Amino acid sequence: MIAGSASPHRFIPAGPLRGEIRVPGDKSISHRALILAALAIGESRISGLLEGEDVLATAAALRAMGSAIEKQDDGAWHVHGVGVGGLLQPAGALDMGNSGTSTRLLMGLVASHGITAAFTGDASLSRRPMQRVTEPLSAMGADFTASPGTTLPIIMRGLCPAVPIRYRLPVASAQVKSAILLAGLNTPGTTTIIEPVPTRDHTERMLRGFGAALDIAEENGERVIHLHGECDLSPQSLEVPGDPSSAAFFIVAALIVPGSDITIGNVGMNETRTGLIAVLRSMGGRIEESGRREVGGEPVADLRVRHSALKGIAIDPALAPSMIDEFPALFVAASVAQGRTITSGLEELRVKESDRLSVMAAALTRAGANVTETQDGLVIEGTGGDPLPGTSSDGEPCVTHLDHRIAMSMAMAGLFSRNGVSIDDTRPIATSFPTFVNLLEQATGRGGTA
Ligand code: S3P
Repeated sequence: MIAGSASPHRFIPAGPLRGEIRVPGDKSISHRALILAALAIGESRISGLLEGEDVLATAAALRAMGSAIEKQDDGAWHVHGVGVGGLLQPAGALDMGNSGTSTRLLMGLVASHGITAAFTGDASLSRRPMQRVTEPLSAMGADFTASPGTTLPIIMRGLCPAVPIRYRLPVASAQVKSAILLAGLNTPGTTTIIEPVPTRDHTERMLRGFGAALDIAEENGERVIHLHGECDLSPQSLEVPGDPSSAAFFIVAALIVPGSDITIGNVGMNETRTGLIAVLRSMGGRIEESGRREVGGEPVADLRVRHSALKGIAIDPALAPSMIDEFPALFVAASVAQGRTITSGLEELRVKESDRLSVMAAALTRAGANVTETQDGLVIEGTGGDPLPGTSSDGEPCVTHLDHRIAMSMAMAGLFSRNGVSIDDTRPIATSFPTFVNLLEQATGRGGTA
């Protein structure tokens, strides 16, 4: 849904980040809130929904399948659910834009309805692997006709009643787990998922909140989730907490720009999402948490972040699932830290909105950082607290490959650079963080942008 032609931009050095900000609603939770509300019987109310293009793609697809979804004057979104099993045949193709989460979760939903749906997406999404969802959903009875390499466009036909499966996740993916759970909702019997490595658990938490019958156990060090199918969901009123993956850019910027002292309010602190905070703290980052509370069934807190002398470290690959979207931002912090940061076990980063290992290696190198790409990670020699040189104003910009998190990470690199950093396209930022540039201007007091 990234429309029009590329929108290049130069992010110039900026003064300290100060004051109090709030980042928009969590993207993962926003998708799930719309989907479960669309399956409940009656009207749900969602406040704090992220109004990014990815979430709006989910909303448009749910509307096309019969749910009424609208934003009301109070700023909250009202969703009229059709009931589990009640989705209708969409009249046209479902355009998923840039959003892998929309695609994989909605495929799960369609899998156990007797409807046919065509999924399309932009150039970035059309390169991403879908076999990870088509395989388990085929085992439940869905039928897929995919483009070569099991990529979009894909036409699928769901089966009703579908067949419950017991499935051990071969990759640590909350999207795959969620696709199977959503398919299991309209499937008689018990759908079981075994998670050798825990991933974000927003779907499980929210399913319980909407009244689904779910048991979660720990067996031999693995998480085992049983969903008892064909349950009714009851409508809810819920609030979406701030997105820790969006807060990540401001956390990194405040740590690296001298004199910064910023408070980011209402940030989701689900422990399946907070790996970056733990890593930055062990690099010497001053990140203080206060006001821990619960919002929408999720832990949240306010974070005070101050400029800090960061030291490079070797990052435990076991932390990767809890910070999977935060590595681009972490790489920026590492490139100005003291000493070497080593990351490994990050093959999954190659199949995100872009190949985030090679794209970040190229972008940071262009901005003057010392980066070596390995098969499964990056090794970064930091500047020891000095700004990056940046890109020359008449030279080639950093290339973002339709990836919002590359664009925002390189914007942060520009803030703490000598010359500024040019990027080729800021449009993808609107997929997850439409207010990013405004918030950056607010936090830096004058705008960190040219
Ligand atoms: C997400 C899961 C992660 C993450 C993505 C959002 C989700 O993807 O990278 O941005 O909402 O479930 P994977 O499941 O592919 O790891």
